[in-house]
Formats: sequence, structure tokens, C-alpha cells
Amino acid sequence: MDKKNIDWSNLGFGYVQTEKRFVSNFKDGKWDDGQLTDDATVVISECAGVLQYAQTCFEGMKAYTTEDGRVVIFRPDLNAKRMEDSAKRLEMPVFPQDRFVKAIEETVKANLDYVPPYGSGATLYIRPYMFGSSSVIGVKPAEEYQFRVFTTPVGPYFKGGAKPITIKVSDFDRAAPHGTGHIKAGLNYAMSLHAIVTAHAEGFDENMYLDAATRTKVEETGGANFIFVTKDNTVVTPKSNSILPSITRRSLMYVAEHYLGLKVEEREVYFDEVKDFAECGLCGTAAVISPVGKINDHGKEICFPSGMEEMGPITKKLYDTLTGIQMGRIEAPEGWLYEIK
Ligand code: PLP
Ligand code: COI
Repeated sequence: MDKKNIDWSNLGFGYVQTEKRFVSNFKDGKWDDGQLTDDATVVISECAGVLQYAQTCFEGMKAYTTEDGRVVIFRPDLNAKRMEDSAKRLEMPVFPQDRFVKAIEETVKANLDYVPPYGSGATLYIRPYMFGSSSVIGVKPAEEYQFRVFTTPVGPYFKGGAKPITIKVSDFDRAAPHGTGHIKAGLNYAMSLHAIVTAHAEGFDENMYLDAATRTKVEETGGANFIFVTKDNTVVTPKSNSILPSITRRSLMYVAEHYLGLKVEEREVYFDEVKDFAECGLCGTAAVISPVGKINDHGKEICFPSGMEEMGPITKKLYDTLTGIQMGRIEAPEGWLYEIK
């Protein structure tokens, strides 16, 4: 097989259709064996649960080409577990975790030509998702579901890659206490669209959401968790039941403590203390670590000492170590890299 003729280094974060995708259907109380297909379209009832009441959840992960030419996926077991949590909260059937990982492996193997080469700066983004496919008109869960996995080669989520971005404190809430902020439900993203379009129109790259109950604590952005660095180099990340438990963030906190020997804290972070941090970054599969240079709070600016030109020094170390692990340059903790080839 030959690599596709794609300008890997200039890819943005967009959809490029690849050859194969995995599909499994849930009917009469069980999942079928599933298979790969060339068909990139989905045909479902006009009254499908996903179309009427947004019964859908998804995951996001990446395949990387390592320095020595292997293809690996980063911690897919954690995505499998999180998708199970999402499915249960949305009254959907669970796609078994071992089958989830196998389906990812099969899909990536079938699209190896689209895995960007080492050093290109691009990766193969993997999107598993599930939705209610049978008709539902009263408000209740669907009886039939489809689980699918597609892949698409991607570049950086934010234009400019590692350049610091500017975000605003949003006037909208992302998630309610006891709501669905902790799972990867499509509905969380639908309701964030107006907020992100508004932020972009005002010239900001992203939103910082505060906790809906008190508007005093930092939650996350539309697609990433926060990490902060104090002036004495402690890595701090917000703890909240209404944010997505980011796999990247959990990995970074481990890297900070065990690879870089830094102090780490997962705790409530009050917005009032943000001005005192030395560095700020957004972390996630798509975002990797995107440094934040400036936060605009209704016209009042918080400018981090790391500035608008480059990542702060600790953020850079975290970035280099995490991507070093993902690309096989630095030894990974046991079980972090799932080898495809
Ligand atoms: N928070 C939100 C709302 C997200 O959509 C994502 C992306 O998956 C993350 C955080 C980061 O999570 P992860 O590191 O598991 O990709
Ligand atoms: C991810 O990082 O995988 C995400 O899902 C974030 C965004 C693209 C929704």
C-alpha cells in the first residue's frame, strides 16, 4: 500500500473522506458482528432518535506514526470506557469495550495509507460514534442503534498550531450541575455552537466556560480542558463533575508528576485566581496542548507572562514530553500505546 498523495503538513482540522469505516447495528437487544464498508453515507428513519432528540455520543482519538515507523493509538482503552459512560447516561446500549478497541484497530488498519508520516505534524483522527437509528416520537430511547468509526487525517485544531490563542469568558453555560457535561454527548456540542460562533465573530479563538451554578469557577472550553501553571511551577487543573474527563489532561498530569517531577493539583479553580497563574493551556486530543496567551473577561484582559509569541516554558515541556511519548521518541508508561502496525 502507498501513502496517499496529501499535503500532510498543510492539513487543518477538517474532514477528509478515507476509504473504509466500521459499522455495527444494534437490533433486537444485541449488536451484530459489524463490518468495514466503503459507504460513507448513513441511511436512517426520518424519525430516528438521533434526529428528533439528539440521542448520540462520540469519541475522539488519534493514530500516530512513530519515529521508528510503527502506527500506534494513544490509550484507546480510556476512550472505550468513556464511551460506555456516555452510552449509559444517554440510555443507549453499550458497545463492549474490547470490541470498541478492535473496531478502532480494524478501521485504522484499513486506512493505513491515510496515517500521516512521522514528522509531518499531522495525525489520523479517529471518530467513533453511536446514535439512535430507529423511529422515536414520544420522548424515549430508540430501540435500534448504529455504532460507527471513521478516520480522517488532521493537522492542528487551532490555526497557527503552537501559537498562543486568545479566549473570552463566555456568557453562556456549557453544562449544568448534574447534567451531561461529563460525557461526550452530541447535545453538549450543539448547544455550544452559538457560543463559539459568537466568540469567533468577536475575534476570539475559544470560550472559557465558568460553572453554571455560581459563575465563579473555571470549567473548560467547548472542546478541551484547562491546565494552568503557577509562578512556582505547580501544574493545576480544574476539578468539576460537569467537565469532560479529558484523557489528554489525565495523561499530562501524570507526565508532569512522573516525567518532569512537578507538583500537580486537581482542584476547584476560581476565576479570580486565574490572573495569578504564569501559564495557561487547553488540552485535548484535537487541541493537544494549545497555549492561551490572553483571556478577555468582558473587556478586562488577563495577559499571561508567557505572552502571545510562544508557549510558556512548562507548557512547552509538557507538550514535548507528551508528543514525544505519542511519537515513540520517549518511553511510554505501560499500556499507553496500542500498536496497530
Ligand atoms: N473537553 C471537551 C468538551 C472535549 O470535547 C474534549 C475532546 O475530546 C476534551 C475536553 C479533551 O478530551 P480528550 O483529552 O480525552 O480528547
Ligand atoms: C477531541 O479532542 O477529540 C474533540 O472531540 C474535541 C472537538 C473536536 C470536539
